[in-house]
Amino acid sequence: MSAEVIYGNELAQSLRDEMKKEVTELRNKGIIPGLTVVLIGDDPASKSYVKGKQKASDYVGVDSELIELPDTTTQAQLLSLINELNEKESVHGILVQLPLPSHIEEQVVIEAISPEKDVDGFHPINIGRMMTGKDTFFPCTPYGIIQMMKSKNISLEGKHAVIIGRSNIVGKPVGQLLLNENATVTYCHSRTKEMEKYIESADILIVAVGKANFINGGDHIKEGAIVIDVGVNRIEDGSLTGDVDFDSAKEKASYITPVPKGVGPMTITMLMHNTIKSAKKING
Ligand code: GUN
Repeated sequence: MSAEVIYGNELAQSLRDEMKKEVTELRNKGIIPGLTVVLIGDDPASKSYVKGKQKASDYVGVDSELIELPDTTTQAQLLSLINELNEKESVHGILVQLPLPSHIEEQVVIEAISPEKDVDGFHPINIGRMMTGKDTFFPCTPYGIIQMMKSKNISLEGKHAVIIGRSNIVGKPVGQLLLNENATVTYCHSRTKEMEKYIESADILIVAVGKANFINGGDHIKEGAIVIDVGVNRIEDGSLTGDVDFDSAKEKASYITPVPKGVGPMTITMLMHNTIKSAKKING
């Protein structure tokens, strides 16, 4: 089998075009979706992600503000800024780019953001809402992955989804969203024994470990599986590659996502979705 490639960039573009129309209508009603991104320090990868967020905001018509602070910023200063943004009416979404410098406690910062402006979907209240099957802001990468599969009319019900990686940003929430769609979910991680056994039984394989070619050779991938590669790894020649060796996995899978042009563009698109959703909700 040679898999059909799910191009996230193409889906992202068509969703952004729809959002652009919706934002035009909102603006005509006096509602201007506003997103504030806070970037601390000058990590090149974070800078590049933040740039992508600004570009997407400009495209769909979201008013976006970037606040760049030095890595000497204290936790108290950051919390005070978040308080101001929580109160500011023109701000519908607040995103503090992670990771943060080590002297700032990430969880404290996440919990300081108003759950009603938490367009990342990281606040425990929003995670709880997601876990109990309520509508809320869903974390952007997991939500984008679900949209990619839905765009191909892939039925998730009853499928065995195996997730490799248990991060708070991707692994854990994507499992929850799949469970909400009635998939059967298995989490694998660095302490999992005989991981191949799980990979072999996966109808849907989601790989989010951050190691180039972690899944190599396609050996253990089930024939016809759906393979979603969340990894973004920069290799020696400077190019980006995923966690899955694409060429070998493509021979086994029925659907596969590439890197780049796969999950990445969908993450930013779902951030736009959440910001627009917040603007609509806050404005009744
Ligand atoms: N760093 C890497 N991915 C993300 C994300 O989705 N949100 C935030 N806030 N930081 C990130």
